[in-house]
Amino acid sequence: MDIITTSAKMAEYITNLKKQKCKISYVPTMGDLHDGHISLIQSAKKEKSKTIVSIFVNPLQFNDKSDYENYPVTTEKDLEKLIVNNVDCLFLPAKNNILDNLEEYKINKLPDFLNCLCGKFRPNHFEGVYSIVRKLFDLVNPDYVYFGEKDYQQALLIKHIIKNSYNNKINLIICETIRDEFGLAMSSRNNRLSNQQKKIASNIIKELMKIRTKIHNEGVSLFNDLRKEAIKVLEEFGMRVEYLELLTSEKLDKSEDKNNNYMIFIAVYLSDVRLIDNLKI
Ligand code: PAF
Repeated sequence: MDIITTSAKMAEYITNLKKQKCKISYVPTMGDLHDGHISLIQSAKKEKSKTIVSIFVNPLQFNDKSDYENYPVTTEKDLEKLIVNNVDCLFLPAKNNILDNLEEYKINKLPDFLNCLCGKFRPNHFEGVYSIVRKLFDLVNPDYVYFGEKDYQQALLIKHIIKNSYNNKINLIICETIRDEFGLAMSSRNNRLSNQQKKIASNIIKELMKIRTKIHNEGVSLFNDLRKEAIKVLEEFGMRVEYLELLTSEKLDKSEDKNNNYMIFIAVYLSDVRLIDNLKI
């Protein structure tokens, strides 16, 4: 596996690949790789292309300084996983290499679908994701990019970026959420939970599934009552629900959708660990 640590070398590497008419499949990450990331990499490996993974813990997307400072850096273990999965190239840039000269990648106003959910509760988070993703996409010049459905609002932002800044020339592949043996959606933050807490957290998806079944049987108008019930159950398990919303899956608003394309979104705190999940209705 090639390991590249500067933007200049990365640009050179990509120019070479493009000269050879190689397609590029790209999985951007913040490291601490888990099965969710591996499933993105495995999807990328299905294309006849070079697979590039980047690891960059982006300080701009952490609204909470201590969350950033405590973010696990597990480069040795990550390297092993990338090699086992036959990744062609790891881009592992130093902080300033990416953060310098970011002005051209700032966005003045994010699209409206980022005003709710994580966009509402994590000030500046998506501005930070926007800048870094734009810079990384410009550097890596990918043909295919892979993102997880767990971070659904982020995936919609990527779709927006690809449409507005890359003329839809990049193919976005959104991969389904991978869950652990308890049903908990995979996230690097899960490492901060004990097994007992993971079992407790498995109630998040159970509650979403209960809501989905009841909505299937009785309609979306029931959601407000179901929401209250679910929050009560999760609070009894010791979680604090930050949001629990039923929204249209394309625009993330509360309008009526003729095609019934709704999703339920949730964020909870278990101790000081923030967990998010979602489910299509
Ligand atoms: O999903 C992530 O890991 C990050 O938000 C991303 C896309 C790598 C940008 O820093």
